[in-house]
Amino acid sequence: MMENFYITTAIDYVNGAPHIGHAYEKIYTDIIFRHFKKRIPECFFLTGTDEHGIKIQKTAKTLGINPQEMCDINSKKFQDAWKLLNIEYSKFIRTTDDYHKTIVQEIFEKLLNQGDIYKHSYTGLYCSGCETFLNAKDLDENGNCPIHGKKPESVSEENYFFKLTKYKDRIIEHIKKNRSFILPEFRANEVLNQLENIEDISVSRAKTNVEWGIEVKSDPSQVIYVWIDALSNYITALGYDVNGNHSENFKKFWPANFQIIGKDILKFHSIYWSAILMALGLELPKTIYAHGWITIDQNKMSKSTGNVIAPKAVMDEYELTNPDALRYFMATAAANGKDGNYSDVDFKEKVNADLANNMGNLLNRTLNMLVKYFDGEIKDDFISDNELNNKAKNIIRQVQLYFDIADVSSAANTIISLVDEANKYVNDSAPWTLAKEEKMVECGKVLYDVLNLMTKITLLIEPYCPEIAKLMANQLKLDINLKYTDIQPNMIKSGKLISKEEITPVFLRLDSSFATNKK
Ligand code: ME8
Ligand code: MG
Repeated sequence: MMENFYITTAIDYVNGAPHIGHAYEKIYTDIIFRHFKKRIPECFFLTGTDEHGIKIQKTAKTLGINPQEMCDINSKKFQDAWKLLNIEYSKFIRTTDDYHKTIVQEIFEKLLNQGDIYKHSYTGLYCSGCETFLNAKDLDENGNCPIHGKKPESVSEENYFFKLTKYKDRIIEHIKKNRSFILPEFRANEVLNQLENIEDISVSRAKTNVEWGIEVKSDPSQVIYVWIDALSNYITALGYDVNGNHSENFKKFWPANFQIIGKDILKFHSIYWSAILMALGLELPKTIYAHGWITIDQNKMSKSTGNVIAPKAVMDEYELTNPDALRYFMATAAANGKDGNYSDVDFKEKVNADLANNMGNLLNRTLNMLVKYFDGEIKDDFISDNELNNKAKNIIRQVQLYFDIADVSSAANTIISLVDEANKYVNDSAPWTLAKEEKMVECGKVLYDVLNLMTKITLLIEPYCPEIAKLMANQLKLDINLKYTDIQPNMIKSGKLISKEEITPVFLRLDSSFATNKK
């Protein structure tokens, strides 16, 4: 069994505030982290902010504040948002942190000294949105960057270059041999195609053009390319050491199990990052998972359109006291690796259907029946093995298999399918009729089976909805910190389980007229 588990997100640019696209990725990663905490003894979750480069420099200039000040303000907004969303990261890295800057400088010197980095005069087209040079063939029909819709700048400089081409064949081989290196699998071909046309890349900018970055130690007229700086965060945060005197965390957690990123930056992670790691003589991450993009009412989120939604705005709109509904919706908004969409209507419908009507209501009505018919007590003869136990066992296995490939939405659908089964079981067995017919043991068995199943659902749903799961666990007298290996067929013991006053709904329906009233 795996002993240690390391998961990372992309680090966000701090030229603005977080929106629900950024939130999607952090929630997604947090759910995988929380799931694996229930399987693996030591888990580490890294996130943070990407704070250097021309884009940050320009935004700060426009605002008339110094870049560090802007980074401090905006990085805090990301940290606050993740707190609000219950993102349980182990460490938050900022690329303006001193230790990070030092290690990045050392990495650059190492690559320079071993000949992987060399000096070269260059003219190219730079998109500051992407923070990358583009080839003429990457541009759209108007000569614009296809992602940012803006004309790239022509740049002519003497820069340092990284020998990406030297690693091309090894990367291709690695991708072909390791089917789970790039997930979902359909993305791997895209990368293999991109690899056909790669060239060495510029890894520094003249300080006269880009001031806001980490200086090359041996040549302070140059600033290290922001992507080299940013990608390195995954190892600097752990305590990587260029001379091999790595920290305990580095030894424990590298290589990462999952690096979760958006599809737009897969090339940087699967190609550039792999080459850097190879050049440093380090292992590659086990899996780079590229998620899709979130649109708002089917439109791309953008400042100019004015349709950017902050996670807090959704929480405020619905007066949510915890983020579980938003977490759950985001987790299921997109099929594995595909794009997804947020709309107020879909949000309400989805969480009302799954969390209130289906899962919450099932627990609530079952507990109420237990109180009504048995004064909240589980009698010995209610407990027996049952078909739902087998179904639960299979579902737990299936959910774990989905998490092994970071397919968070399919795992959620699988959990909800188990809730559906339980609802069907209650409706088919009609314990209220059994009670009327005074078949009390049969009635009690049905209630037991369902409540027992709910303990497993609680543990499975916890990564998505930690607060709701806590409320469920309290009522089921379940230890929420149990691991999946602690799950037994019968989790609820005989005796008094609950009294009337202790029963609380775990999720209240979002009032369907709420948003329309307010808007
Ligand atoms: O790319 N839907 O930062 P970033 C889903 N600093 N995901 C989205 C999204 C949306 N609408 N908008 C952005 C960067 N993202 C670099 C990363 S990593 C060493 C450096 C995702 O702020 C995006 O795909 O532009 C990326 O994974 C993350 O948010 C940060 O994007
Ligand atoms: Mg971006």
